[in-house]
Amino acid sequence: MNIAVIGAGYVGLVAASCLVNSGHQVTCVEIDEAKLRLLNQGTSTIEEKGIDQLLKQCLSSGRLSFVSALPKPLQVDIVMITVGTPSLPSGAADLSYIYNAAEQLRDAARHPSILVMKSTVPPGTGVKLVQRYFKNSPISYVANPEFLREGEAIEDWYHPSRIVIGAEDNKIGERIRQLYFDIDAPVIITDITSAETIKYAANAFLVTKISFINEIANLCEAADANIDDVARGVGLDPRIGPDFLRAGLGYGGSCFPKDARALDFSALNKGYDFRLLKATIEVNTKQRILAVHKLKQLLGGLAGKEIALLGLAFKPDTDDVREAPSLDIAYLLDEGGAKLRVYDPAAMENARPLLPPSIAFAPDIYSATAGANAVVLITEWREFIDADWQAIKKQMKEPYIIFDGRNALPQDKLIALGFKYMGVGRRLG
Ligand code: UDX
Repeated sequence: MNIAVIGAGYVGLVAASCLVNSGHQVTCVEIDEAKLRLLNQGTSTIEEKGIDQLLKQCLSSGRLSFVSALPKPLQVDIVMITVGTPSLPSGAADLSYIYNAAEQLRDAARHPSILVMKSTVPPGTGVKLVQRYFKNSPISYVANPEFLREGEAIEDWYHPSRIVIGAEDNKIGERIRQLYFDIDAPVIITDITSAETIKYAANAFLVTKISFINEIANLCEAADANIDDVARGVGLDPRIGPDFLRAGLGYGGSCFPKDARALDFSALNKGYDFRLLKATIEVNTKQRILAVHKLKQLLGGLAGKEIALLGLAFKPDTDDVREAPSLDIAYLLDEGGAKLRVYDPAAMENARPLLPPSIAFAPDIYSATAGANAVVLITEWREFIDADWQAIKKQMKEPYIIFDGRNALPQDKLIALGFKYMGVGRRLG
């Protein structure tokens, strides 16, 4: 098929490249001139496993091109909108990029084509967009949310757990199903608003699962139980499942926090108070603050204490620090008077402008931890788990605290080395 993709951000670039790889012809619209230049040279503007090679292959196939504006008149089968929907200060999703793209499309459309909305938009948005922009136009509207994880986006594109298609008309829905002819996954064809709701409900459920296990972990600490065994025992029930039961410092990233807030706002705006979701968001914020309080208690105060923070990215194998727990934790420790040294294998440059200027950036884990009274693991990078902890212990200072904020380090080994170990929902050692 002949496809235009509006927005060469994270989802757009992955979608465009994967669609070309499946044999489609794609024109990708990107307004940022600097990004456009890089993309036309075959340089990816996002950090993603496999994207550099895929992008080069796509460009040399001649079926992918990047342009600065939607061609007029537009003659394609499908237009995919993949622009961002960031948070407004109220928590609502900022739909200005969506409106912009819809206007461009309305102005360029002369021939029948299908608008496929991949951006995450609150329930009810698609129906409103149709009313506002496409009432008497050749454009049909389909909501087709994506569930791509950062770092696994290409793999997730080809092996999704489901394909969700929301259309006014079944025939249009069927056409979009053909777009994914080479993907083997259950397909749900429903109405537009239900498809939009599936995306938010999935994210809301996953964040609820994370906050739930974090609350159970906090309870484990109070009751002297062990979260590792508890989570395993709970997750083996097939009705619950083992995924997303890793207790720790909570969720961050470019999707979960903003989508949780946007759903809460959207529900309230429709007259419904989504209390469970509100509690989930609050627990996630509290989890970061609680970590700082526990550390303060263990250290007997923060003022003048040297603390190494390991990991700034919101999860391992990414340079993304958006809404990462590291940012809040660094601020709170700095405010408490601690002397901080931070290290992350990939996210230092992105984090630097977001952190207080008093924080020192170390070139590796060993320089970060030298002379530290305490080490806090915030992101479970492999290189932290595999580090030489004996060497680290030798160069640290009393009381040799290690706060494992992701329950990822070898607890018994660290205790045997003489560390004072604290995890999340694990017994103190
Ligand atoms: C997520 C969704 O998984 C994806 O479907 C959606 O499209 C976008 O948002 P991503 O942001 O890449 O993807 O992150 P993910 O790997 O799902 O992890 C999100 C956060 O939750 C991370 O901060 C992670 O540390 C945290 N998490 C995850 C936990 O704290 N505990 C868990 O058990 C799982």
